[in-house]
Amino acid sequence: MKKLLSIILCSTALLGACGTHKASEPTLKSALADKFYIGTALNSWQVAGRDSNITDIVTRHFNAIVAENCMKSESLQPREGEFRFRQADEFVAFGERHGMHITGHCLIWHSQLPRWFCTDEEGNNVSPELLRQRMKTHISTVVGRYKGRVKGWDVVNEAIMEDGSYRKSKFYEILGEEFIPLAFQYAHEADPEAELYYNDYNMFHAGKREAVCRLVRQLKERGLRIDAVGMQGHIDMQYPSLEEFEASINAYADAGVKVMITEFDMSALPSPWQSANLSDTLSYEQRMNPYVDGLPDSISAQWNARMMEYMQLFIRHADDITRVTTWGVTDGNSWKNGFPIRGRTDYPLFFDRQYRPKPFVEELIKSKK
Ligand code: XIL
Repeated sequence: MKKLLSIILCSTALLGACGTHKASEPTLKSALADKFYIGTALNSWQVAGRDSNITDIVTRHFNAIVAENCMKSESLQPREGEFRFRQADEFVAFGERHGMHITGHCLIWHSQLPRWFCTDEEGNNVSPELLRQRMKTHISTVVGRYKGRVKGWDVVNEAIMEDGSYRKSKFYEILGEEFIPLAFQYAHEADPEAELYYNDYNMFHAGKREAVCRLVRQLKERGLRIDAVGMQGHIDMQYPSLEEFEASINAYADAGVKVMITEFDMSALPSPWQSANLSDTLSYEQRMNPYVDGLPDSISAQWNARMMEYMQLFIRHADDITRVTTWGVTDGNSWKNGFPIRGRTDYPLFFDRQYRPKPFVEELIKSKK
């Protein structure tokens, strides 16, 4: 009897640590319900429910999801005409099962792009006609499959540089600026009800801000649908300033679209630069990985204070912001542990490695009780 009691007590304590809860307890999504969707990126392992603590956090606190990798072109169409939908199907089914807002990420991107898409067997660029046809097939097959189920798509990801010029991607080399309106047109034709987004990092840079506003206006002038601009939001402890970030929220809203914070995380580590460009990987250096054994309290306090300021900024702009999505669930599974330097221990997300909400999250929830 005593043993049984101690098992019950022990498992209750463990469950408590892992976030088990009463249905009536306030959560992030209830605290932010009248502001915007609060979302998270999910990897396929999480979608499959391999970690029940993650499933618990996701279903309790979030009402929106985006696929971290399984909807990228190299995953969905690794070889021409060979579509692999299993993981994406499971991701969409997960969102539907839990009544979540589902975002598709992403249709046209220079990264995680299979080589066949833009080049022939000798590595030469394909013709503009062939690339247009391949874009159309990819977009209409993918968007068509999830018609009415995926609520919005990151149609084009990361096409503009900080100075406002176009990224010299294969899409740009072959089709010029025209690849962007074409992608939006094909996506709209495949699901006229779906929201369509342009998504990019460092969206607070003045040069990029102006170019993205110009792009939004051009698409609208041509009668093409664009609902929102996604500001990825991979930030760190110094950059960007809240003022710069706010200036961009205002500028995109003034250009006539909604704003979404689509890939929100804040690195607690020293940053070699302000880029989220995947090719910028530095080699591992000890001094760049100072908190392997845990984040010191003083750094944690600064980190939480800055996250709170950002969340308050988003709340102040809730008329323009429709969704805030974190890029991952807990620190342990964040891409920031591997980018821009491999093998670091970072602390960028809303929940820690023990599945506990960070202090600023608890404060946010409490403030709405
Ligand atoms: C990242 C994923 O988180 C990683 O798992 C993957 O190895 C590389 O891509 N900008 C984007 C995201 O738009 O798709 C990227 O996601 C992070 C940067």
